[in-house]
Amino acid sequence: MNRLVVVSNRVPAPSAGSQAGGLAVALDGLMEKHGGLWFGWSGAVMPDGATGRAAMVERGGAVDYATIDLTQEEHDRYYNAFSNGVLWPLLHTMPELMQYDRRDARVYREVNARMAAALQPLLRAGDLIWVHDYHLMPLAAALRARGVRNPIGFFLHIPFCAPDVLAAAPEMTELVREMLAADLIGFQTDNDAANFAASAQMLAGAVRGPGNSLFFGGRRVRLGVFPVEIEARGFARTALEMTASPAVRRLRSSLDGQRLILGVERLDPTKGLLQRLAGLRRLLEKRQDWCGHVTMLQIAAMSRKGVDSYRALRAALDREAGALNADLGEPYWQPLRLVAHAVDRAVVAGTMRLARVGLVTPLRDGMNLVAKEFVAAQDPADPGVLVLSRFAGAARQLEAALLVNPHDPDAMADALDTGLRMGLEERQARWRALWAAIQHRSPLVWGRSFVAALLRAAAVHTVEPVLAVPPALELPRATPRRPMERVGAEIEAATLAAMVKPGRVLN
Ligand code: F6P
Repeated sequence: MNRLVVVSNRVPAPSAGSQAGGLAVALDGLMEKHGGLWFGWSGAVMPDGATGRAAMVERGGAVDYATIDLTQEEHDRYYNAFSNGVLWPLLHTMPELMQYDRRDARVYREVNARMAAALQPLLRAGDLIWVHDYHLMPLAAALRARGVRNPIGFFLHIPFCAPDVLAAAPEMTELVREMLAADLIGFQTDNDAANFAASAQMLAGAVRGPGNSLFFGGRRVRLGVFPVEIEARGFARTALEMTASPAVRRLRSSLDGQRLILGVERLDPTKGLLQRLAGLRRLLEKRQDWCGHVTMLQIAAMSRKGVDSYRALRAALDREAGALNADLGEPYWQPLRLVAHAVDRAVVAGTMRLARVGLVTPLRDGMNLVAKEFVAAQDPADPGVLVLSRFAGAARQLEAALLVNPHDPDAMADALDTGLRMGLEERQARWRALWAAIQHRSPLVWGRSFVAALLRAAAVHTVEPVLAVPPALELPRATPRRPMERVGAEIEAATLAAMVKPGRVLN
């Protein structure tokens, strides 16, 4: 039976506390159910020279967690400067925020190489390796360079930008080549997969293959689209239970009958927080009858304090929130409540159920699970309205939301006004369509779909079923790799964008 080895920057190891965020939410269920090895950074930053070469291994439930510490310099350059100061803005198509320094790129690569070296001795024949996210783009190549031949899948949780944007950072051509060392590369949307395929061809010299695959270095690499999901029914239950919690009851009574607009995210330049406040300001200027009758609660938990653009955004947000309340508030009413620290997830669920409008308007987002959570949290008899950025990956599934362009304050104001005024019947109809899009999906099914596709991509022979595969997907039959000449003859001209369909496993 094959073991699943997950590799991610953050790891929810028992000793690390709950530091892994959205990624852990997506993977916890799969790992708890099937067991395996979860490898990555311990969350600890040690003085230079105080980090060991070997990973520290601890057991939690069915999972072995293996982690390495980072030095202060590695944390500053690999995590803060290159992952979050270059790759994050660039892949979100915000190259103007990028602060590039080739020394950071060098350390990013060194950390990936160090991770590969620490992981290799823990690997067994037959392990399936699943690498996650932009911190680890060169890891598959680093493992291959050490002779690792196991199937490797890579999943990018964030968007992938167009090739001309990507080219702004000198490393990207090489990083795309290194990603191609995997057998399967997964994305959140067809747009991300198409951008990657275009970049691989234009920058890295890959050649399009049949069935959404690319040829590179004599190998065939599959691309796939796997939108991350939430456990919708569980989240709905939590939201319902939490309406009776003291925190949610206090919020309700403090609103004193006003309608609540809710935003919840990490404080991040991609989330469109300033644009969102501009939308609220425009609403209150254009439709003054809302003054005194609506309150916006924005939870924007401070994150990545070591990155300049995050600290600058915090300062700008504080300024704009203060100005908004000062300009438009009254002695008896303030339009905005801003909370810049994390709020317990269960309390957020209950708060979502109180809100008349969920305002989820990132400038760009891989998926955005908050949008799905807002839908799940609603009372079907009296649901709130989701106002969603058309640039979030979730917009491709949640088409019954009010879709907006977050750069346009008037569009935001109009959508807010429409949402706040929307009658019960339309709210219910929209909610039913949104719920239908998420209710039968789950992180477990998502994870199993990826693993099934990885097996298929790597044409792995297994005696027993590896992980139970969801009913819609068949465990792929092992087929020998075809000779390159034959496969090469099948290269087709159809655009990848047309072939890659969201929610489907590609092969
Ligand atoms: O995919 C983006 C992501 O890496 C998530 O997995 C995670 O929840 C979030 O960003 C938080 O990032 P960080 O590890 O920098 O706190």
